[in-house]
Amino acid sequence: MASETPTRGLENVVVASTHLSAIDGNAGNLSYVGYNIHDLAARAGFEEVAYLLWHGDLPLAAELGAFGARLAAERALTADELALVRGIAARGHGMDALRTLVSGLAQLDDQAAETSDEHVERIGVRVLAKMPTLIAAWDRMRRGAAPVAPDPNLPHAANFLYMLRGTPPAPAEAHAFDCYMVLLAEHGLNASTFAARVAIGAQADAYCALVAAIGTLKGLLHGGANQKAMETFLAIEQPDRAAEYIESLLAAHGRLMGVGHRIYKVEDPRVRHLRRQVQLLAAGGESRWQAIADAVGRVVAEHPHFTRRQLNPNVEFYSAPLLYTLGLPLDLFTAAFALSRVAGWVGHIREQLADNRLIRPKADYSGPAPRGFVALNERG
Ligand code: ACO
Repeated sequence: MASETPTRGLENVVVASTHLSAIDGNAGNLSYVGYNIHDLAARAGFEEVAYLLWHGDLPLAAELGAFGARLAAERALTADELALVRGIAARGHGMDALRTLVSGLAQLDDQAAETSDEHVERIGVRVLAKMPTLIAAWDRMRRGAAPVAPDPNLPHAANFLYMLRGTPPAPAEAHAFDCYMVLLAEHGLNASTFAARVAIGAQADAYCALVAAIGTLKGLLHGGANQKAMETFLAIEQPDRAAEYIESLLAAHGRLMGVGHRIYKVEDPRVRHLRRQVQLLAAGGESRWQAIADAVGRVVAEHPHFTRRQLNPNVEFYSAPLLYTLGLPLDLFTAAFALSRVAGWVGHIREQLADNRLIRPKADYSGPAPRGFVALNERG
């Protein structure tokens, strides 16, 4: 059989059509359903963006109110859901907890296997609304604190910070996290979204697809990079140590986390907004992490290892100091990403279901040539 050259990592291979987002990695452009990310980051809230992704247009005020009310109604946990959290609160990484808890939501949903668009949208609202409550309750329980019920008067992003801390966030903090959620909500056929489309394409159910996406997002080359980027900044300790740290990392053939992207060959358009939010948060308190990230960014902008390969800070780079300044534990960073990206995942699941065909690529066989079977007692 003739050998075919595999496209490693499916780079530049187009395997789906989407109306959800458009990315131009050479120009550094991103839009959701036709709206430029710069406009959305400056002027839209997360609920508006989730609505946009699921309905194809920005909501009218009454539509946004109704959507917000549906989320608020789903946000609180039932006794069974709280028991689920209690059962796994003792140990593990935040992403492991999130994966288990979303899987648990499926088992508490009698209609989990329904894949009509109406049910997938219902499941989307349920999961999007409950994920922050579940993960905040899990974090509080592992710290020996009681879970905090959602506040029906707070929007989605602010509610998460409130449930995590037990006190409402300052307006600048709520705004920073809301902007973060707007920026992270959708990004084409990234690895976790692709995983969701593969699962739903095989006619699994929406929960299975979301769990597949969560498991994939945990990957260090994908959503897991925000935690690793922060660990890098913590290890650097002082801005004037950035260059030395990066030299020794490169000498050991390490990767600088939060840098590089498969699609973007120029600065990722989300970076400027995250950098700005980090600056605003730093202006009101701790500026050390902004200073370290800026120093690392300057090295990346000038160092030939990065310039020759067109490697720039990616969305995780300033997400790391943003989430750290907001007080999230390191192992909740990637879960915070998931709280936002679930909007995109659900949009893609619905899109795949609307025109489904099993996703089934091929592998080029590289094993031994055909050979005769040897009975067990004749081997060796
Ligand atoms: N630090 C140092 N060198 C890097 C980095 C990095 N962060 N990223 C890529 N390179 C180098 C590679 O070593 C390789 O060098 P070589 O040509 O000498 O072998 C070259 O750049 C190309 O790397 P690939 O792995 O082929 O690039 P790919 O497109 O597959 O990788 C990826 C993209 C995975 C994001 C990569 O840049 C990376 O590992 N970055 C760090 C992890 C990270 O921040 N991930 C989050 C991405 S954003 C997101 O998913 C939300």
